[in-house]
Amino acid sequence: MIRAVLRMGDPRLLLRAEPVQAFGTAELAALLSDMRETMVHLDGAGLAAPQIGVGLRVVIFGLQSNPRYPDAEPVPDTVLINPVLEPMDDELEDGWEGCLSVPGMRGVVPRYKHLRYSGCDEQGRRFSREVSGFHARVVQHECDHLDGILYPMRIRDLARFGFTDVLFPDGSATPDD
Ligand code: NI
Repeated sequence: MIRAVLRMGDPRLLLRAEPVQAFGTAELAALLSDMRETMVHLDGAGLAAPQIGVGLRVVIFGLQSNPRYPDAEPVPDTVLINPVLEPMDDELEDGWEGCLSVPGMRGVVPRYKHLRYSGCDEQGRRFSREVSGFHARVVQHECDHLDGILYPMRIRDLARFGFTDVLFPDGSATPDD
């Protein structure tokens, strides 16, 4: 079922989400199905459960390679539950981000460039990955949602925050997270 995505200003987006305790349940499968359907419907690259009003530490993300977004490396379709993020060094990289909870806007956000993340899949199997660039950025953006952080809170230079169609009139902005 396509769910309504909460928009910035809704206090539920500012809460810390709770860890998932039970895996492989019908409830978790239904949540993930709704999240996937909602993300696809909105052409998103990622979605966190709190964005549909569910306060659990669940995110999904993924992006197929697309000539419209030449700067965005493809990211595999991923379900990540109870994530732990560890930067691999101190290097930060600026990049444009958008968010389904902040529709129609983009801003430049510093993120760790190299990252190790771990967590569980839908069945509770642990996995970890070492990633960089756009993949690392998407994971950091999604996991921020689990701690009540929206990307505009991380913008350092508000001169680099604006409307997507003004900033990217050629339509080259990467999809919202
Ligand atoms: Ni977002």
